Amino acid sequence: MNLVVVSNRVARGKANEPMTGGLAAALLPVVENSGAVWVGSSGRVRDGAQREPIAQIEQLGKGAVTLLDLPAAHYAGYYEGFANSALWPALHSRSDLISVSHDDYRSYREVNGFVARALLRFHKPDTLFWIQDYHFLSLGAELRALGIKSPIGFFLHTPWPARSVIDSVPNHRDLVTAMLAYDLIGFQTEDDRENFIACLRADLGLQVRDGIVKSRHGRTRLDVFPIGIDAEKFAAAAAKAASHPDVSRLRRSLHGEKLAIGVDRLDYSKGLVNRINAFDRMWTMHPTLLRAVSLLQIATPSRESIEAYGNLQSEMARLVSDVNGRHGEVDWTPIRYLNKGYGQGVLAGLYRSAQVGVVTPLHDGMNLVAKEYVAAQSAVDPGVLVLSKFAGAANELDTALLVNPHDIDGMARTIAMALSMPLNERRMRHEVMMTKLRGRSIQQWFADFVEALQDGDAAEVEIEPLPAAPAGLLSGRMLSPGQRYH
Ligand code: F6P
Repeated sequence: MNLVVVSNRVARGKANEPMTGGLAAALLPVVENSGAVWVGSSGRVRDGAQREPIAQIEQLGKGAVTLLDLPAAHYAGYYEGFANSALWPALHSRSDLISVSHDDYRSYREVNGFVARALLRFHKPDTLFWIQDYHFLSLGAELRALGIKSPIGFFLHTPWPARSVIDSVPNHRDLVTAMLAYDLIGFQTEDDRENFIACLRADLGLQVRDGIVKSRHGRTRLDVFPIGIDAEKFAAAAAKAASHPDVSRLRRSLHGEKLAIGVDRLDYSKGLVNRINAFDRMWTMHPTLLRAVSLLQIATPSRESIEAYGNLQSEMARLVSDVNGRHGEVDWTPIRYLNKGYGQGVLAGLYRSAQVGVVTPLHDGMNLVAKEYVAAQSAVDPGVLVLSKFAGAANELDTALLVNPHDIDGMARTIAMALSMPLNERRMRHEVMMTKLRGRSIQQWFADFVEALQDGDAAEVEIEPLPAAPAGLLSGRMLSPGQRYH
C-alpha cells in the first residue's frame, strides 16, 4: 500500500517546535512510523509562471513530507477567505462571523484543483489518498475529475454543524455534493455524522442506509473515528520535562500557590473570553482563592490577518489587563497571559505543573489539549480537567468536570471545586480517563481509518465530472523567496 496523506498544514519533524494545531501535531508520529507521504502547504505562494508546485521534500521517519507552494493569486481567497472566514465560522456554529465573496469560493476551488494536479505524481496503482479537513472538501472530486479511481478518504477534524448553520455558507450544496466523491468520510463524533446525514437528506434528498450513501458518484461510507493521542509517550515526555528551563522556572515562581492552565490557539471557538470571565467571577466569589491560585493562559496567535481574530486579540488583551488590574497585588499576578507557541515537550511539563486544566471551547471537533493534559498528569497526584461539554473530547473524557462555557457562574464554581477535589477522587477520575486514552491511541485511529478505506469497494465507481471551478490558474503577485503568507 502506498498512502498519501494531504492536509493544509503539515509538521516538519521536530516535536519541540511550536505547532499551531492539533492536526499537524497528531499526524506527525503516525506519518513518521507508517512511511506515508504527507503533502501540504509550504506557507509560501508562487505565481503561474513557475509550473512546478513542489517546493521541498523532506524525510520524516519512514515517511516523507512534501511541501507545495500554492498559487499566489488564490491563496488569500482560499485560506483567509473561504476556508477560514466562511467554513471555519460555520463549522463552529458562528454564522454571525461568516464573511465571504464569490471570488473566495472560486479561489478555494482553484486551490483544491491545483493540489489535485500536484498529487498526480504520487499516484501509483496501489495508492490510497487520505485527505484531511475543511480546507479540502472538494479535493476528492477534483482527483476523480482527473481520472483517479483509487480509494480516497476524508477526515473532518472540526465539527459538522446543524443544517441551518451550514446553509449559511454560499455554495454549500456544491461542496457537499463534491464530498460524495470520497469513498469514506470520517467524523470526530456521532453528532457530527448525524448533522451531515441530515444535510444530505434535506439538501440533496439522499438517504443513508447502514452508514452508506449512494449518489451519482458511487458509494460513500460515513463513519466516526474519534482522534486520539499517544498517551504513554506524552506521559513520559511530561515526566521528563520537569528539568526543562521554562518548566522549572514556572514551578519555582509559584511559591506554593496552585496553578490552572489553558493552552489554545487564539480563536473565537475556544471560549477564551468566557474562561477569563469565569476566573474573574471565581476570584470575586471566593476571595480566599486570591493569591492561592493563578491562571497560566497560553494563547498562540492564529490567522491574524482575519478581522475576527484581530478583534479577539484586542478583546483578550483588554480583558486580561482589566482582571489583573482589579485582582492583582504588587507581588501577585492572577493571569499570566502569553501570546506565543510552545513545543509539545515543554507543554507536557507545563500541563503536569498545573493542578487544573481548563479546556472550555464553545464548540470543538475533538480538542487534543484536553487529552494531553490528562496524559501529562502524575498518576499519584493528578490534576483535574475542567472540560466544555461542547468539545468532542467530552464524549470520552466524561469523568472530567464537564461545564457549559456559556454559564460563567457555573464555570467559576466548577473551577473552585476542581481546586479542592480530594486526592482519591482525582485519582479515580484520572485513571478512568487514562484507560480510555490508552484504548484509543492516535496509532489506532490511523490504522482504523486506513483499514476502513482499504476495505471499501470503492474503486469501480463511475464518476461524472462535477461543476468545475473556473479554469485558468496562477497569475498574479509572486512573494519574495522565503516571505510567508501566514
Ligand atoms: O481542524 C482544525 C485544525 O486543522 C486543527 O488541527 C488546528 O487546530 C487548526 O485547524 C489549525 O489551523 P491553522 O492551520 O489555520 O493554523
